[in-house]
Order: sequence, then C-alpha cells, then structure tokens
Amino acid sequence: MTTSTTESRALDEVKIGGLGSSRKRVEDDRFIRGKGNYVDDVVLPGMLHMEILRSPLPHARIKSIDTSRAWAIPGVHLVLTGEMMATRNLAWMPTLSYDTQAVLATDKVRFQGQEVACVIADDPYIAKDACEAIEVDYEPLPVIVNPVQGLAPDAPVIRDDKVGQADNVVYHWEVGDQAGTDRAFEQADVISTLECHYPRSHPSPIECCGSVADFNRATSKLTLYVTSQAPHIVRAAVAMVAELPEQMIRIISPDIGGGFGNKVPIYPGYVCSILASILLERPVKWIEDKTGNLISTGFARDVYLKGEMALRRDGKILAFRMHTDADHGAFFADAQPSKFKIGLMHSAFAAYDVPVAHLTARGIYTNKAPGGVAYRCSFRVTEAMFFQERMVQAAADDLGLDQAAFRRMNFVRDDDFPHRTPLGFLTDSGQYAKCLDVGLQAIGYENFKAEQAEARQRGKLLGLGISTMTEPLGAGNSREYDILGIKMFDSAEIKVHMSGKAIVRTGAKTQGQGHETTWAQIVAHELGIPADDVVVEEGDTDTAPFGMGTYASRSTPVAGAAVAMAARKIRAKARKLAAHLLEVSEEDIEWELGRFYVRSSPQRGASIQECAMAAYSNMPDGMEPGLENTSFYDPPNLTWPFAVYIVTVEVDPETGVWDVLRMVAVDDCGVRINPMIVEGQIMGGLTEAYAMASMQFITFDADGNCVGSNYMDYLLPTAWETPGFELHSEVVTPCPHHPIGAKGIGECAAVGGPAAFVNAVMDALGETGVRNIDMPVLPDRVWEALTYRRDVSGHPPVRQD
Ligand code: CDP
Repeated sequence: MTTSTTESRALDEVKIGGLGSSRKRVEDDRFIRGKGNYVDDVVLPGMLHMEILRSPLPHARIKSIDTSRAWAIPGVHLVLTGEMMATRNLAWMPTLSYDTQAVLATDKVRFQGQEVACVIADDPYIAKDACEAIEVDYEPLPVIVNPVQGLAPDAPVIRDDKVGQADNVVYHWEVGDQAGTDRAFEQADVISTLECHYPRSHPSPIECCGSVADFNRATSKLTLYVTSQAPHIVRAAVAMVAELPEQMIRIISPDIGGGFGNKVPIYPGYVCSILASILLERPVKWIEDKTGNLISTGFARDVYLKGEMALRRDGKILAFRMHTDADHGAFFADAQPSKFKIGLMHSAFAAYDVPVAHLTARGIYTNKAPGGVAYRCSFRVTEAMFFQERMVQAAADDLGLDQAAFRRMNFVRDDDFPHRTPLGFLTDSGQYAKCLDVGLQAIGYENFKAEQAEARQRGKLLGLGISTMTEPLGAGNSREYDILGIKMFDSAEIKVHMSGKAIVRTGAKTQGQGHETTWAQIVAHELGIPADDVVVEEGDTDTAPFGMGTYASRSTPVAGAAVAMAARKIRAKARKLAAHLLEVSEEDIEWELGRFYVRSSPQRGASIQECAMAAYSNMPDGMEPGLENTSFYDPPNLTWPFAVYIVTVEVDPETGVWDVLRMVAVDDCGVRINPMIVEGQIMGGLTEAYAMASMQFITFDADGNCVGSNYMDYLLPTAWETPGFELHSEVVTPCPHHPIGAKGIGECAAVGGPAAFVNAVMDALGETGVRNIDMPVLPDRVWEALTYRRDVSGHPPVRQD
C-alpha cells in the first residue's frame, strides 16, 4: 500500500475487512440458522431415490445375482448390476491414480462394503427394501487384511481383473541418493531405528457423500449436484467415464458439510446415479448413510513406516533411510499428483538440514476399501511428519541429548532458504528455531523437566512431547504437479460492478474453511473495496472458472493467490480510468487503499468505486468497457508453513490412562488473512490430531470385517474430551513467492499434532525402555507397555489357522 503523503486518505484496512481483520465468517449466518443448502436439500420435480447394495464379504467370487424379487416390488423403477453396467462399459472406472475401480462388482467383491447393485425407487425406503430382496450367491475367498499377508508368495491375487497383475504389489517407488546414503551410514557413530504403523483413519465428515443427477433429454444436459471438493475434476471425470460432452455437464457442489479429503475421489454412487438418470430421464438422488461412508469411501493412512538415522555423536544428523509399505485396499484410488506414487511422503525431514537420504515405498493391495486419501493432509505428509518427529525423538534419546536442543541443532537455519531437501523439495522460508523457542518458553520447558524428574521420584509419570512440522502446501506448480495429466494451477474471476460492489468466483470449493469470508478480504486488501461489498461464489462449473478444487490446504496458496493477481489486474485498469477522470497522465497517479490520487495534489483523487462507475459510463477512447478479470495462477513453488506443537501429559501407571495437562501450538503460516479463521483451523486440526493419537480406531478383523463402522466405535471427540489449546501467532515469515505472503494453514495442526501427543506419552514412559506404542495410544496399550516393558503394535490381527 502506498501512502506517500501526510494527507493520506487511505482506508483503514482492518475496518474494511482487509488482511489481518478477524471479520466474522459470512457463511455462518446461513449455517447457524439452518439455511445451508446441502446436496440432500436438493429436491427436483419427479426425483427418484437410489440405494446401494453392499457386499457383506471382503473377498468372494460372485456366482450369481438374482434381482427378480427386487424388480417385483411396487415403486421400483430400476435395478442396476455390474453386468448391466458392463454392457455400457461402465462396470469399471479409472481412479485418479491411474488404476481402475469397480463401479458395481462383476466378477468378485474385493472389500466388505463394496458396491454390488443398486435400486432406484420412488423413495429411499422402497429402494432399501428392494436392495435386501436382491439375492447374491457368493463363493468366499481367502482374505488379506495387511501387507504382510498380501506379499506372501502364496497370497491370492486380489486384482486378477488386471492383465499382467501376478501379485498384490501396486507399485514400487524410490527417491533420493541410495549410494550416498549408504556411505553416510558407514560414517555414523550411532544408528537409530524406528518402526511404527500409522493406522487407518477415516476423515468422517458429518455430511456423508451424495449426489443428485439430473439428465435432461430435451437439452442433452446433465446437471450433477454432488458432494465434491473438486467439481471441475468431477466434470472432467464424468466426461471421460460417461462419455458425455464436457460442455453438456454442469457440476454443482452446493454447501458441503466437511470434506477433509473424503470428498475428492469419484465414488461409484455418483456414477450409478448419473446412469440411472440417463436411463430413466428423471432426477435420481443418492445419499449415503454413515456406515456406508465409514466402510466404503476413501480411508486415509494405513502405512507401515520403517527408518534409520545416521548420527554423529555430537548430535548432527548425517543421513536417513526410510521404507514405507502402504496398504491401499482393493483399488489404488489416491487423489494425488500423478508422478508421486506415495504422495508427498518424501517431504519427511524437510525441516532438518540432512545432507543425504533415501526413501523407498511400496503399495500393496488388500481386501479393504480404497485407502490413501489425504485426510486433512497434503498427500501423505501426515505420515511423513509423524514418522519424522517420532524418529527425531528416538534419535535424541539414543544419543542421550535433550530433544529440543537436538532439534534446534539440526533445523534448517533462517538464512539457509531457499533450501533443497535431500529428497528434492525446495523449502521457501521459515524461522524454525524461533518457533521452537516461543513454544518452549510458553510451556515452561525447563521447569517442566524439573517437575517431571521430581514427580518420577514419587511414582508419578509426566511426559512432554514436541512435534514440529513443515508442510508443502499449495499443489502445485504445473512443472511438477498434475493429476491424470491435468496441471495443478488455479484461477479466480473478479467482476467489479458499476456501483463498485464485486463478485469473486474461484475454482476452489470451500467445505467450511471460510473462503466466502477470506477471498473478500483479499479483494479488500488489493482494491480497497470493503469486504462486505464483495460476494464470493464457488462450486458451480457453469459459472466458476476452472480449478483443481480444495484439498491439501491449496486454496490460499493457489486460488487465493489467483484472487490477488486478478485484483491487481483490475487495479491496473482502474488506474487508467482514474487518470482519465483526473485528467492527468497515468504516471502522475498514486494509489493508496481505496483511492487513486494525483501525486502533486493528493487531495485530487478518484475512489475505486468512481473508477468502477467510469468503466461502465465514462471510459477513455479506445478502452474496453467493464472492470473484470480472470487470472490463472501457476505457483512458482509450494508454500512451506512451519509449526511447533508441545504437549504435556500425565500417565496413570495403574490403568494406562493419560491426560493432557497442556498443549501449546506455535504456527507460522506467513501473513494471516483472517486471524480468527486461522485459529479455528488450528484448533480443529489439533482436535483431530488428539483424536487420532488417543481414541480413533477403525480397523479390520482377521476376517476382513470393518471394526469401527459407526460412531459408537469410531470416536469423534467432543468438547468434553478435547483438551484446551494455547495458540501463539507471534512468528510470521511471509511466503516470499505468494502475492500476499500467505502460506496454507488448513491441515498443519492435524499433520503435526499426532506425534506431539504420542511423544509425550513415550516421554512419560521414558525409563521403561519402551520405544513405540502405535496409535491410537489407548490406555490398554499404555498399560501393556508399562507392565511388560515392551513395544505395542497396532497392526491388524491376522488369522493363525
Ligand atoms: O485449502 P483450504 O481452504 O482447506 O486451506 P487454506 O488455504 O490453508 O485455508 C483455510 C482457511 O484459512 C481459509 O479460509 C483461508 O483463507 C484462511 N487462511 C488465512 O486466513 N490465512 C492464511 N495465511 C492461510 C489461510
């Protein structure tokens, strides 16, 4: 902002709701009043309802399907099976990771809950009853519930539908310098090792998935209302799968009740509702129930992590090696940049100055629902950061060094940016040691250590866990990132009306993050139009410009940047209009927030609103009328926020129950557009981190039954269990390449938080020699570790017979 004269009439940025203003979320008004418009609120004339029949078995050959009883039920309009889908080439669909996924099973079912048939009827109850009337004859097959079973030489091949697939390996992938890493390990004084399992978790948005497909034969246009975080990707996928012309497809993602990555993939229910609408020429609604969502839609994590760190006696990290086995379930359906088979797992240790490293990754098919979605996470970053911080603590312990000092000694220094990590990323900026110091100061580190030692004398177990994280947010740049070949940039459109009010549209899709509030703040900052005069719309592919959607905290880094760039182009045109209105040349014009003025006589000015009116009523000769712009933003790099989370706990040695005493969070996400929204994002993320670390359990028994398919078993933390969080915002490192210096924040706390809780419990157990308890760190696991002084694995059970 230029304020070149003492007579400045610049607007007060915070008052007009610009950057740094904690303006209340405008979308909350309708949500709190129950006036949101979700997919299930969509009611169209003549609409029918669809229900899905799911497989009760995790692995079985389908011998026959008899739908005659279902067809006979009054009110049933259509029964779809895999065989019928196959005649239209729709039994299988491509996934976002170049695999295929069954829409409705034809040959076999490959996980419990897989879609086998669906019924379209007058109402959902008739459709459900009719599903139950379908008779499927299954021949059970041996079940694989973890990678060890999947890799066994005699394991049945789950994906025998794929030509040339002779085993259950999805991929092998590696990155880094193997020979250099081997050499560094030869020089090491100490080698530290760690193995752990990041368990399956489910994003579990409160609103389940659903769609309303409305094919209009008269116009040949398909409108799909759908719970999607990425409507333009759905449009492209529908065009591909259903072979409909893209211009005849309109995808509308109305209000979304939480996504967290669960609403990125394309699900069979969407495809079936589309086909049903085309066949019946009536709108067809499908709304998933909670168990359907929990057992069949995108799971996250389920990865076995193994690593070693080469260390010098004085604490310098010389190198690390990592191997991961990822359990992908029956279909490799991750939504992630195409060329990284294990997402951004190779961001591990990016905050540390490690000279050389090597990572290998293997994906394995099992008889589970597809896994690997980025649950509040940038494509496996959560697993990477979790392992990093568990490993760092183990290494500090092995060296007998203080864990905070060990981290500080190995952090990338403030003057080392941009920093090339050993696995290939270029981190942009940060003040890692400062964040750590703020956190340690806030928690009272030294005092706590003294208190902990004293408490131990009395048999009381206190622990302190530190976790740091830096995360590549904002996929991507088009050089390096694509999904199915589609480059990962984004766009924004701004239209300033003649009254100076504006509308912003982007290709992102808010699911509760507050884009309607914050995009308007960016416009207020760039143009001086009060945020209350700016309306934001997302989610309709007929009106929004193209975008890759909202996941991986990419909205602010990419779509938010596009909003700023579009606003700047509008300001450049408005400057010409101001020069025309003020009858001076453009070079004599200065800008201050909300107003252009004549440099030599600052009292002579034209507000942005006056320029807007001139764009429609008094433009200079030869100028195109109107004041609008669409900007495509291809980020030069990812943004790299940083955070330190510190937790103190007390563990009850009798029961293994642990309580959080305090949790301190220091987040540096660059410039904060809306500090209140940022705090909300951090608190939400920490709550999910606490849930993953302490209670959330969705696994599979030895027979492949999903355990945790309802909210009695899969726990969502309430305000009752959730500890209080103390947030610190004093460290701000503006992103050097983002137009307003912002970095992403949406998932940082969910990514970095879990390791802080686990590290705290492990610290409390310090003298037992226990090295690892897998998440969730349930009291019985802690009790087992304390009682038998052994590590506790959370691997899914395997049948011994
Ligand atoms: O992609 P997603 O919206 O999930 O994540 P994000 O870009 O990190 O943004 C989450 C919310 O925080 C949005 O409303 C952002 O505009 C806001 N935010 C902010 O106010 N300041 C930042 N530096 C980053 C995000």
